[in-house]
Amino acid sequence: MARVFSGIQPSGELHIGNYLGAVQNWVRLQHQHDCLFSVVDLHAITQPYEPAALAQRTLDMAISLYAVGLDPERCIVFVQSQVPEHTELNWLLTTVTPLGELERQTQFKDKSQRQESVPAGLLNYPVLQAADVLLYEATLVPVGEDQLQHLELMREIARRWNSRFANGRAAERGEGFGFPEPQALLSTAKRVLGLDGQAKMSKSLGNTIGLFETPETIWEKLKPAATDPARVTRRDPGNPDICNIFTIHQGFSPPETQALVARNCRTAGWGCLDCKRVLADNMIAALTPVRERAQELRSQPRRVGETLRAGAAKARAIARRTMERVRRRMGLLEGARV
Ligand code: TRP
Repeated sequence: MARVFSGIQPSGELHIGNYLGAVQNWVRLQHQHDCLFSVVDLHAITQPYEPAALAQRTLDMAISLYAVGLDPERCIVFVQSQVPEHTELNWLLTTVTPLGELERQTQFKDKSQRQESVPAGLLNYPVLQAADVLLYEATLVPVGEDQLQHLELMREIARRWNSRFANGRAAERGEGFGFPEPQALLSTAKRVLGLDGQAKMSKSLGNTIGLFETPETIWEKLKPAATDPARVTRRDPGNPDICNIFTIHQGFSPPETQALVARNCRTAGWGCLDCKRVLADNMIAALTPVRERAQELRSQPRRVGETLRAGAAKARAIARRTMERVRRRMGLLEGARV
């Protein structure tokens, strides 16, 4: 079975953009592969953040993941900082990472422009991400397109480490150790835009629908949401292919409803509000059990904490084995661990 690793930053609760774009796919993958999913708090601290709020956001994100259906019996869900091997491997990998490649990462260039003083951790971000995946020898990494450059660098880091430290002849005897080159698993889902229909859905832009919103707020937010701008009046026919509301239908409505909605949009049989009402009903039906599960988990933070620690212990058992082999191959003194 292939091993899958992916991470999500602890931005608090999930919204339908993260859900349809990534996490819904994780829920499917847990049935097909050997999966690890991590709340990557160590990545989050590379940008300005509020220390007093981080732990709660981390817990909220974990609750979100459990609520949408990641099952701790079927996959490993854990918090990155609870497995210290991530930072250890990170350091070792920096020694084979070309600085020029880090400086070329577009995410680094974007994010560093927005900060007056750029922390080295921001530059190092993709190395930590490589450590996340390589630590578990994962070969499949479900991510969005914005992560492809990080994935390519991760492969480069694996190749460089292997050519310097892996023992090819021993590997042929099944005794060596080298990192497999991970591959991106791009989600086929169309990207959901924010309710403004302009930028991508993102909490910092305030254009989201949270996964745990009540039926009333779901409707309040959908009502004014942007649709095909060519539909100025009720009589103008629309084009579902360029309508963000239709994209959301594709995430929440069954195929028959999608077909019905598309037809009525193109013929102006329905107005946008008619279409949104049907979407709201389907979203509410899908999200009500998710909201209820989240509520229940929120009332049991200790139990959630324990489940996360159990996840971290499972992850750590794998991570330790990898680190033993990595340390040996890199020539670090054995038996030094106390
Ligand atoms: N950088 C990823 C993002 O912002 C999150 C992430 C961290 C990740 N570590 C990872 C994704 C490892 C995949 C694999 O979306």
